[in-house]
Amino acid sequence: MRAVDLIQKKRDGLELSTEEIQWLISGYTDGSVPDYQMSALAMAIYFKGMSVRETRDLTMSMVASGQQIDLSAIDGIKTDKHSTGGVGDKVTLILAPLVASFGVPVAKMSGRGLGHTGGTIDKLESIKGYQIERSQEEFIKQVQDIGVSVIGQSNNLVKADKLLYALRDVTATVDIIPLIASSVMSKKIAAGADSILLDVTVGDGAFMKTLEEAETLSQTMVDLGKEVGRQTVAVITDMSQPVGRAIGNRLEVLEALEIMQGKGRVDTTNFICELAQIMLRLAGVDKSLDDVEDHLVNGKALEKFEAMVLAQGGDLKDLYRPSSSPYITPVYAQTDGYITELPALEFGLFAMKLGAGRAVKTDPLDYESGIVFDKKVGDAVKTGDLIAQIYSNEKISQNRLTEFQKNVKIGGVQIKPKEIIKIIS
Ligand code: URA
Repeated sequence: MRAVDLIQKKRDGLELSTEEIQWLISGYTDGSVPDYQMSALAMAIYFKGMSVRETRDLTMSMVASGQQIDLSAIDGIKTDKHSTGGVGDKVTLILAPLVASFGVPVAKMSGRGLGHTGGTIDKLESIKGYQIERSQEEFIKQVQDIGVSVIGQSNNLVKADKLLYALRDVTATVDIIPLIASSVMSKKIAAGADSILLDVTVGDGAFMKTLEEAETLSQTMVDLGKEVGRQTVAVITDMSQPVGRAIGNRLEVLEALEIMQGKGRVDTTNFICELAQIMLRLAGVDKSLDDVEDHLVNGKALEKFEAMVLAQGGDLKDLYRPSSSPYITPVYAQTDGYITELPALEFGLFAMKLGAGRAVKTDPLDYESGIVFDKKVGDAVKTGDLIAQIYSNEKISQNRLTEFQKNVKIGGVQIKPKEIIKIIS
């Protein structure tokens, strides 16, 4: 086979066979298919799409490109969760220990943030000492011992995705359904959990901009999971504004602790409890929302989180330390009304430029910087009310403050945002 012929075939809108897809992925993983041919293929897929069968073949070829984790030594139904990317998305930090606090094992591998989206691993690394690298034996032992572990994705897992995702990121081929579905599901399948909750974000801060696209992506991934015997549910969630109050690594850890002490915003707390309820149900555990919330109020989820931090080398004293950013700049409401928009993309980019995220993979992070919102969409404000605080390493110029204020939209009509838009199973 020749890569050029397969690129041409896809470019002309024809279907690639199972063998052709396997050949391309294994060749890309071993280096015999170079980046420039893979990027041409990704662009051809971007324009011509892939059939359900091709997407399945791509996913399974990617699974086969690396190690597959065997979690069978852990008793019970193992659960996992994945988000397609968000701003201020600290959900995993709370959801993993919360679900584990009901005796359901959570063995989760997470990724780093890129561009305007944050990554759970960066947030955990803002905790002094927290080790994200664990051998497979250590990972399994920790889940056996305390019921939860969140680590970085092993280098050997889905090698093809590691290469392909980095390539897509610089060739404008990230936001296309067959490539996202195969990227997400290959990692979830290889990571070995029995049940998978997919958080498919939609809105200006997400890869999926419309509900229709999010539905197609969700259904594609749910079908892929079910075909290989994994219980899979997708929840389409709103990413038109940031999740919760904080954007930025340490600031998000602090918000997660606040939620696990029962002191989070009601909307964010309810959202996380609903996700936990679905994850628990996938593992055969039926709990009411009140039961789930109890574990945030009575400290059971926090206890699990602290146990996980300790088991992975984290410093519990440092965990509760406030951000050490030298500058905290308040932003006040310019008029009376209701917050009608807080565009996730704009604030994600703003936080990234403060150092909370990376524009390119090699950028260093400033774990302490970011934004904490005092008001969210739907909240009433009066002129002069505190809207947000910007945590930064350098003084925020008037221009940047104006840029921030411009993105806080205040109007006369109260909007009631809905975190969970649709559930696809
Ligand atoms: N998250 C992933 O893991 N892969 C994608 O392609 C997009 C979001």
